[in-house]
Amino acid sequence: MPLLIKNGRVVTATDDYRADVLAEGEVISRIGRSIGPAECPPGTEVIDATGKLVFPGFIDPHVHVHLPFMGTHAKDTWETAGRAALVGGTTTLIEMICPGKTDEPIAALETWLGKARGAAACDFSFHMGVTRFDDLAERQLRQIVERGIRSFKVFLAYKGALGVDDRELYHALRLGAELGVVVTAHCENETLVDERQRELLASGKTGPEFHGPSRPVQVEAEGVRHLMTFAELTGAEVYVVHTSCDEAVVEAVRGIERGVRAHVEVVLPHLLLDHSFTQRPGFEGAKYVMSPPLRDRSQLRRMWSHLRSGTVSTVATDHAPFDFQTQKTLGREAFTKIPNGIPSVQHRVELLYTHGVCEGRIDLRTFVAAASTNAARIFGLRGKGGIAVGGDADLVVFDPDFRGTISAATHQMATDYSAFEGWPVRGRAEVVAVRGAVMVRDGRFIGRPGHGRLVPRG
Ligand code: URP
Ligand code: ZN
Ligand code: ZN
Repeated sequence: MPLLIKNGRVVTATDDYRADVLAEGEVISRIGRSIGPAECPPGTEVIDATGKLVFPGFIDPHVHVHLPFMGTHAKDTWETAGRAALVGGTTTLIEMICPGKTDEPIAALETWLGKARGAAACDFSFHMGVTRFDDLAERQLRQIVERGIRSFKVFLAYKGALGVDDRELYHALRLGAELGVVVTAHCENETLVDERQRELLASGKTGPEFHGPSRPVQVEAEGVRHLMTFAELTGAEVYVVHTSCDEAVVEAVRGIERGVRAHVEVVLPHLLLDHSFTQRPGFEGAKYVMSPPLRDRSQLRRMWSHLRSGTVSTVATDHAPFDFQTQKTLGREAFTKIPNGIPSVQHRVELLYTHGVCEGRIDLRTFVAAASTNAARIFGLRGKGGIAVGGDADLVVFDPDFRGTISAATHQMATDYSAFEGWPVRGRAEVVAVRGAVMVRDGRFIGRPGHGRLVPRG
């Protein structure tokens, strides 16, 4: 059904103006100062956006939905994750495909695609995880890129599991450079992590509060420096995921200054949560175990500053949902067995708005750029990330006057806890459309699982 959003304040990464937006047949067909009902096709649904902000659909370029990891599986399905994303205003997710080292890449793509297709209500794409590199993997990676999955993911961490060695890293980056695809990378020096974990456990330091000390900022900075060296020598375009500290950003900037094409991502937990959360009593700290770990408070301020200046291009979540009661507790005896990850796909937009825009840390355009437009540009998501005639009608009517509180009792994610339990939020996605179809109304999901589709990539 055609959709007319009237009287809203349209905010994109570059513009801020009052206009009506008309969507027909999945795309935006007209933007005008005033579009009357007589100018719309019969049956057009009109949404009054007086007093509201109209944003392009938000894009989360780093999530995990299907994730076999650390002896268990992430809790969400594409049905729950897609619904949670949409209720939060995110209309496109890019998921990391994380095959085991012996899995064939094409089989992994089919598995991950099979989970999303028919279940996701939001649109989606993938970063193809390269967890080993040999002739077969290379052949299949080429086919995967031809099928439109135009980005890779490598892990410099997770020794013996998802991590690649330097030979594999070199060849993955060379292939990325040859095929013109961005290589995303988790940057922590895996040997340092491994050795420090052993030392901490041997001295009886087994609780979640020791996860941070096992991977200090130097471990991450060394990982980023390593990636920059390899990118410089291979010519690959790289994207550093979940950068958590100033030391790591500085290494990326040094690479960029030497001519490396590099982008830097921060994830919501590294803007809002500090390491004191992992020190919470009663093993509750396990809820906050993720990698890279939560840092000290001064790092949060520095990451906001990098976001404001544009050094950090994107804000993702690294949504990695594990239950507290049945999954995080796998690490009761040793923090190294706590499944890493913090669920937050639903709350990225409202928390970034509340703590970024409302608290004056970033302006509205930077907010849209970091939460939508830059990811569309870097990863070539066709039709996404803006409000323009001919672009996908992914639209968010956002109510800045809404006041709410986050709770696991009401969230749409499948996990039994929220890392942001009781946190107040200002503003919410009131109406959310994906390619012209209204999926959220009055902040409630009314969409159809399976509406989502694989986004064409340029
Ligand atoms: O702790 C995290 N980040 N868990 C998900 C896997 C990853 O490293 O992205
Ligand atoms: Zn990671
Ligand atoms: Zn991740």
